[in-house]
Amino acid sequence: MDRIVIRGGRRLSGFVPISGAKNAALTLLPCALLTDEPLTLRNLPRLADVDSFGHLLNELGVSTMVEGSRPEDFGRVMTLRAAELTSLVAPYDIVRKMRASILVLGPLVARAGSATVSLPGGCAIGNRPIDLHLKALEALGAEIELAAGYVKATAPEGGLPGGHVIFPTVSVGATENALMAAVLARGTSIIDNAAREPEITDLARCLVAMGASIEGIGSERLVIEGRQRLHGATYQVMPDRIEAGSYACAAAITGGELVLGGAPVAEMAAVFAQLAEAGVTVSEDARGVRIAAPDRLRPLTVSTAPHPGFPTDMQAQFMAMLAIADGTSVLTETIFENRYMHVPELARMGADIQVRGRVVVVKGVDALVGAPVMATDLRASMSLILAGLAAGGQTEVARIYHLDRGYERLEEKLRAVGADIERISNG
Ligand code: EPZ
Repeated sequence: MDRIVIRGGRRLSGFVPISGAKNAALTLLPCALLTDEPLTLRNLPRLADVDSFGHLLNELGVSTMVEGSRPEDFGRVMTLRAAELTSLVAPYDIVRKMRASILVLGPLVARAGSATVSLPGGCAIGNRPIDLHLKALEALGAEIELAAGYVKATAPEGGLPGGHVIFPTVSVGATENALMAAVLARGTSIIDNAAREPEITDLARCLVAMGASIEGIGSERLVIEGRQRLHGATYQVMPDRIEAGSYACAAAITGGELVLGGAPVAEMAAVFAQLAEAGVTVSEDARGVRIAAPDRLRPLTVSTAPHPGFPTDMQAQFMAMLAIADGTSVLTETIFENRYMHVPELARMGADIQVRGRVVVVKGVDALVGAPVMATDLRASMSLILAGLAAGGQTEVARIYHLDRGYERLEEKLRAVGADIERISNG
């Protein structure tokens, strides 16, 4: 299994191009199921999860064509076409590798009147049930059955009638599934307490480009006028705010200065506010945003929250950064119940971190020390890379397949700004 080796202690400096957003791509790809015409997605990141989603869509009968691009280019252009669906089943073998597969449920039942999707099962960061997805589809008029590890959704004769979805708690995925179903429902649908993540705004904009009628984009109330059919479109995936935030932490933790090319500044306000609080200088740059570290980071008190609050997908990276701050920080994870798997690994590198239920107390130390560590999930693995960049000596990060799910050509981007980092493959 591949691992990444970092010789730390170097100040990073230079330009990092930000790729298309993984979490936008994973909800834009299933939009292809909503029409029999071609959907072309530009700026699609080259990630393992995007490839897996492409395979899932192929299983359902969607053709996918990647336009030629130069190896040195980041991202790619893919044209998808669901001219005819040959299967309405998302099998366990694919779903177990990528939970986001559940995002075919809404579009399939809306387009074809029926969908059978394997239940995703547990995850390292939490139980992650899908009850809100199912309740939302029921509110839109689907009948839901659970059997043998699969969920089957069926629309009445003539298609989903539409309805009023009221989410008791905010869910990104359930909002995306409901929205993708409602655009093809017969009547008007309302989604209340919808998630407001920028990736959902990106989804809504793509659906509008395909002919959907959606009001309230970006707000917690979405009003959707169902259409009989949608048409094809060409859409550009938004840049990845979590990838950009991760590189901002790389500048901060190494005492460096980076320009993040094409970073979605407006969508990163909560992250930038916390960075500024820690003493980092965040300034606009013609090519994106400039991040400049202070001599020593200040401690923070941060709680994760749905957008526009502080994103849970940045919690681990901030923890690594605050491990060397001048003082004691307090982090509270409110979204996922088990998102501290990186703590014992950071402790192996000399961090002083106490977990008390959902709250973590991080006492800043003067320096981290390189060590062999193990990645457990996507963002946890990025926190170990960040710690390795700052640590004295050598860090070896194992199980990096987690990283490849969400960071496009990470070592290349980091090496280009001065990091001593390499991937070691042992067959
Ligand atoms: C999306 O996951 C992202 N994944 C996650 O990013 C991100 O952490 C999360 O939103 C929150 O921002 C993708 O977009 C592919 P949720 P999702 O439904 O949709 C509970 C990363 O690192 N819940 O908003 O699965 C759930 O257990 C990944 O890129 C239910 O109880 O998140 C969690 O505690 C990790 N029932 C909370 O709600 C449901 O039916 C929020 O989950 C659905 C969710």
